[in-house]
Amino acid sequence: MKGLILSGGKGTRLRPLTYTSAKQLVPIANKPVLFFCIESVVAAGITEIGIVVGDTRDEIRAAVGDGSAFGARVTYIEQDQPRGLAHAVLIAEEFLGDDPFVMYLGDNLIAGGITGLVEEFQQLGPAAEILLASVENPQQFGVAELTEEGVVRRLVEKPKEPKSNLALVGVYMFSKEIFESVKRIRPSARGELEITDAIQDLIDRGLTVHPHQVKGWWKDTGKLDDMLEANRIMLDNIHDNGRSNWPEDVRVEGRVEIGEGVELVDSLIRGPVVIGAGARIENAFVGPYTSIGAGCSLKRCEVENSIILSNCQIRDIPLRIDGSLIGRNARIVKTDFKPKAYRFMLGDNSEVGIT
Ligand code: TTP
Repeated sequence: MKGLILSGGKGTRLRPLTYTSAKQLVPIANKPVLFFCIESVVAAGITEIGIVVGDTRDEIRAAVGDGSAFGARVTYIEQDQPRGLAHAVLIAEEFLGDDPFVMYLGDNLIAGGITGLVEEFQQLGPAAEILLASVENPQQFGVAELTEEGVVRRLVEKPKEPKSNLALVGVYMFSKEIFESVKRIRPSARGELEITDAIQDLIDRGLTVHPHQVKGWWKDTGKLDDMLEANRIMLDNIHDNGRSNWPEDVRVEGRVEIGEGVELVDSLIRGPVVIGAGARIENAFVGPYTSIGAGCSLKRCEVENSIILSNCQIRDIPLRIDGSLIGRNARIVKTDFKPKAYRFMLGDNSEVGIT
């Protein structure tokens, strides 16, 4: 089997971060989401992987390289525009050939990996296997309608009046039959070749689409709150190495992973927390579910339940920073300018919440 990981797209819901960076490279517990995907595909025994890339191709290539660091061989497949998930399959035909494949959306995370699913697909041999999960807001997903016997009857992309609460999770397995279907469908009202339409076409052709209901945790990390939730879940699995000979004014509690060359001074770190290499934390509190990127500097501030990307400076902030996602090299500092005022320089589509 081969792997097809989708890492193009626009990432509009994560602006402004995605103006300068691929959303699949936003780190969760200091590791890019995309790396979790690649690792779970490789863990399922699939090492021949195609990665679909768009505008952020250079950054993705720089981060993943030829795949050897993951024990995989990676081929990059260029998509000129985000023309839909089925379009990504269409342009990958030459790479995929006649092999069955797993398609993994590069911003999705599935706790527990995909090894069991790949094995089930190989045993049953359907034209496609889809993953379904019960959600509270099916209007925002591709939705599956099943018959009483549990057979997939219909798939609809973001239905206004959903017939079920079973949403498609961003991992699919396909046989080569999918190529005929992606060629038969036409762009949807939003101008994309929808994978739901292609899978519906498989059903209409009388082929088997096997539904697998996901019981464990999964997340589409396309939005801020989902990123923070994914961060919380992944931080529970970090490698705890926080107990070392810190000075007396430093307290490290709970599960904490601390990178090379981190300096802690007069601070309380309460895990689960990950702190990237070379960060300096002084006179600060880093609370549960926080990822601090490499090279950050925190001084006289409190941060929790947040993702802070590399090389940020946060200094002299009177209130705790919570539920935040802060891009690389950002500076949040107290100024002594007159008049006493908030002073911002924010990218387009930034968001600031002030209590
Ligand atoms: P989406 O999250 O559906 O789309 P998006 O990345 O454009 O984000 P937004 O809705 O916030 O604008 O995409 C799911 C994954 O598939 C994501 O990793 C991007 C990737 N993708 C492609 O590679 N090509 C495409 O044509 C599309 C639509 C998505």
